[in-house]
Amino acid sequence: MNQFAIQAIQVGSCIGKNNILKNVSFDVCRESLTSILGPSGSGKTTLLNTIAGFQPVCKGELYINGKLVNRKGFTVAPDKRNVGMVFQDHALFPHLTVYENIRTGLKTNTSSDNHLKRLIKKLHLSHLVNRHPHELSGGQQQRTALARALVADPDVLLLDEPFANLNQDLQIEVGIELVDILKQQKTTTIMVTHDQNDAMAISDHIVMLMDGTDIQSGSPDSLYHKPSTREVAAFISRGSFIKARCINQHKAETPLGTINIDLAHTSDVESGDCVDIWLHPEDVQIDAENGRCVDILQQSWRPLDLLIKVRIDQNNEILMKADQQFRARQSEKLQIKLNEHVTYSAFSGT
Ligand SMILES: Nc1ncnc2c1ncn2[C@@H]1O[C@H](COP(=O)(O)OP(=O)(O)OP(=O)(O)O)[C@@H](O)[C@H]1O
Ligand SMILES: [Mg+2]
Repeated sequence: MNQFAIQAIQVGSCIGKNNILKNVSFDVCRESLTSILGPSGSGKTTLLNTIAGFQPVCKGELYINGKLVNRKGFTVAPDKRNVGMVFQDHALFPHLTVYENIRTGLKTNTSSDNHLKRLIKKLHLSHLVNRHPHELSGGQQQRTALARALVADPDVLLLDEPFANLNQDLQIEVGIELVDILKQQKTTTIMVTHDQNDAMAISDHIVMLMDGTDIQSGSPDSLYHKPSTREVAAFISRGSFIKARCINQHKAETPLGTINIDLAHTSDVESGDCVDIWLHPEDVQIDAENGRCVDILQQSWRPLDLLIKVRIDQNNEILMKADQQFRARQSEKLQIKLNEHVTYSAFSGT
């Protein structure tokens, strides 16, 4: 049996005369959770609609469980794909209660009633079953739509921004419950999100989509530590670029000393060339004895740490992390260095 639940091969899709998906290729392993991540307008919803069968392709091929479902001029109907979808706008039936809405997802009337009750409990909907959609908050509607899709036990589940309307506490709680349900049901899932933290927290695999094209896919760890472009780096995590000069293919001189670099995604860089190095805030450390003196520009406290923006010189302002006990005022000086055990991603200088 084919190990992939979904295979997209150079898929393109047009709406009217607009080429929305230009060239998208990726594989989704069975029973895995893949996130499609990308900025607003990059084509995420269009890609889900294509996989669900609502949107034809104008080039390339799409396979579900090894079976061709899309090619130019050929589309297998949505109800013949065993694919469930939770839409960005939920699409609940307004005249049905929460319970009745979820029940419409059941394939037979009797067999899965226990499953339905378990899902209602897990998705925190027990106290809402008799309400109608207009009596629910956005997050409650979203959880109802999730339950309706899950109760059908589809081979592939497509989720469009499933956490968009949930507050932060519920995002974490529903996220954990959802992953639990998906693993139990062995459901292959593709989740669309513009939230990097959601994608990093729960995905096995991430596909980065920009302007209708996949520009990098891999594990959350590989996208975080080895971004293929400066756009991916800046989209996936907070951080800063610092100017540097290449010493050779593995080392560069920065205003904060010599560091190890990875030029895997940058071609034609030679010794002496300028490169931009991507720094994660956690790789910048305070070193009161040997660190370089920099100016503190801004500080922002967050629940677990403190993010500080500092100026090294005219060309370089970077973000760094400190623990919450750290106290300094804006315009004070600080001595910092870079973690020498990290290999930093380098991109052609701008
Ligand atoms: N029916 C349509 N007619 C014309 N253009 C469309 C249509 N639907 C979407 N588009 C365009 O296609 C592009 C991709 O839209 P899509 O909804 O797939 O983006 P998205 O990545 O899901 O964005 P968001 O994060 O805002 O939901 C956008 O530029 C959008 O304006
Ligand atoms: Mg969308």
